[in-house]
Amino acid sequence: MQEVVSDELTVPVAKIYGVITFYSFFTMTPKGKHPVSICMGTACYVRGAEKVLDEFKRELGIQVGQTTKDGKFSLSSLRCVGACGLAPVVLVGDKTYGRVAPDDVKNILKDTNFNIISDFVFKLKKSRGTLVPAQFFTLISSSW
Ligand code: FES
Repeated sequence: MQEVVSDELTVPVAKIYGVITFYSFFTMTPKGKHPVSICMGTACYVRGAEKVLDEFKRELGIQVGQTTKDGKFSLSSLRCVGACGLAPVVLVGDKTYGRVAPDDVKNILKDTNFNIISDFVFKLKKSRGTLVPAQFFTLISSSW
């Protein structure tokens, strides 16, 4: 991919690589459908973000910078997101969770899985008009 960008922009591959590795928003591995980011800024760190991050690692079975095998979740840490009053802060996609404790991690992931299902159901309803119950149960059982 870097070679393609290099060719298109007529910029050396080394410069493309330098930009990708400098800015944390770029990555060389595909992100999950729901990127999970734990703020490790000072306020969040002091209020237990490291334990929250450890719980996400345990629940998802991945390390920071990795994506789950099913492609649903990727895990990253970042610096202050400007919501220190809510520390520790977790971002899942465009949703923000504040004052997160390690015990909240399971519910956050369940909430996100529910959103995956409701997104799918909405799209299915939109395309077919109605949803047959058997499809719904198949959908639920395949999501966990
Ligand atoms: S340190 Fe986490 S939001 Fe500021």
